[in-house]
Amino acid sequence: AIDPNFEQNRERIDDDGPVAVWGPVDPPEKLGIHGTHVAVDFDICLADGACLEDCPVDVFTWVDTPGHPESEIKAEPTHEDQCIDCMLCVDVCPVDAIDVDPG
Ligand code: SF4
Ligand code: F3S
Repeated sequence: AIDPNFEQNRERIDDDGPVAVWGPVDPPEKLGIHGTHVAVDFDICLADGACLEDCPVDVFTWVDTPGHPESEIKAEPTHEDQCIDCMLCVDVCPVDAIDVDPG
């Protein structure tokens, strides 16, 4: 499961994408945790898709991750600023790849 204390335990990697990335990162095998308020551990995500289907405000979008051992697409929390803290995604992910920090 994703480490809920990733902000203490991991280093934030500078990234040009829409969301923060928390390392270590060594692509294509190791992709780190993407997002901060809504965080997805890309190294655990196996592209189940329940988070995309169930999020009421469409926080997630698919991104391509060719060569990753778990799956070749991942759920990026692209619109994490729109999250309403319903916690549905945390509940439905079969591999506990998502952490949402209500604040
Ligand atoms: Fe979407 Fe709710 Fe998850 Fe926020 S907690 S990303 S609103 S499903
Ligand atoms: Fe991935 Fe879990 Fe969503 S496996 S696609 S984060 S439901």
